[in-house]
Amino acid sequence: MRDILGYEGKRCVVVGAATGMGEACARTLAEMGAEVIALDIAPITAPVKQTIEVDLSNPASIEAAAEQIPGDIPSLFVCAGVPGPPGFDNLQTMVVNFVGVRHCIEVLLPRVPKGGAVSLISSVAGIGYKKNLEKWKELMAIGSFEQSRAWCEANPELASGYLGSKQALNVYTQMRASELISREIRLNALLPSPTDTPMLPVFHNQAGGKETLEQFFLAPIGRNATPEEMADPLIFLNSDAARFVSGHLLIVDYGYCGEVDVGVREGLL
Ligand SMILES: NC(=O)c1ccc[n+]([C@@H]2O[C@H](COP(=O)([O-])OP(=O)(O)OC[C@H]3O[C@@H](n4cnc5c(N)ncnc54)[C@H](O)[C@@H]3O)[C@@H](O)[C@H]2O)c1
Repeated sequence: MRDILGYEGKRCVVVGAATGMGEACARTLAEMGAEVIALDIAPITAPVKQTIEVDLSNPASIEAAAEQIPGDIPSLFVCAGVPGPPGFDNLQTMVVNFVGVRHCIEVLLPRVPKGGAVSLISSVAGIGYKKNLEKWKELMAIGSFEQSRAWCEANPELASGYLGSKQALNVYTQMRASELISREIRLNALLPSPTDTPMLPVFHNQAGGKETLEQFFLAPIGRNATPEEMADPLIFLNSDAARFVSGHLLIVDYGYCGEVDVGVREGLL
């Protein structure tokens, strides 16, 4: 049988692998015979080859973690993120979810060989990025971690926390993918709808209750996704089966955004 995913023996780095979608991704890749190196700020229990501690809010930590990863990185998954208040203010959320995620990818990109693939987890929450595209391009043009952080601090209306961070990731994915084509490296993003992970109860609280969030954002199938239902399409994005897929925002929401697009459902984002 032809192995269309091609993970057997492949070195895969998964950032944000302690819980939720990243953990599901790391476990599944290990089951498929990949050599998995998992990074997180929290302890990792998935049965992977190597674990490394990293704090995406700290550029020195990202750079130190990168040095601990051996060899080249044909497949990189960046799944980490934080939900925002009360645990993280808007600036901290921008820093982890966008500035840190981008720095992590940029630090590791020189180690991604021709034919390699990078995927990150954004969100349906960032689907409104086109409204602010020109302004986001300012942030995209800034390379350094500290200057990016300062830009977010100076632009709190756009760099508004969770939604802003995911809009920025959607812009970054498409702009950077375009630049990486000449190196034959693919970059894509997964945009999940609400998923049963440790992050979801925080979103319920932010919305003023589980019922309110579900009224507006529950997938049309009538339930939240499982972490595996997000990890599997993410694994597809970096696989050989997706070898002609790049610069793509893969919405995985059981039709929620489609309903909004054709006016079946009210869009709030
Ligand atoms: N759960 C949802 O409903 C939902 C919906 C859309 C998008 N997302 C996104 O999916 C991704 C995965 O989240 P999840 O739902 O699996 O939640 P989760 O909280 O289980 O996973 C997030 C992971 O990121 C790690 N992390 C947090 N801060 C970090 C830091 N500073 N440095 C390194 N690692 C850090 C956490 O320890 C955890 O392992 C996130 O980017 C999130 O924004 C989640």
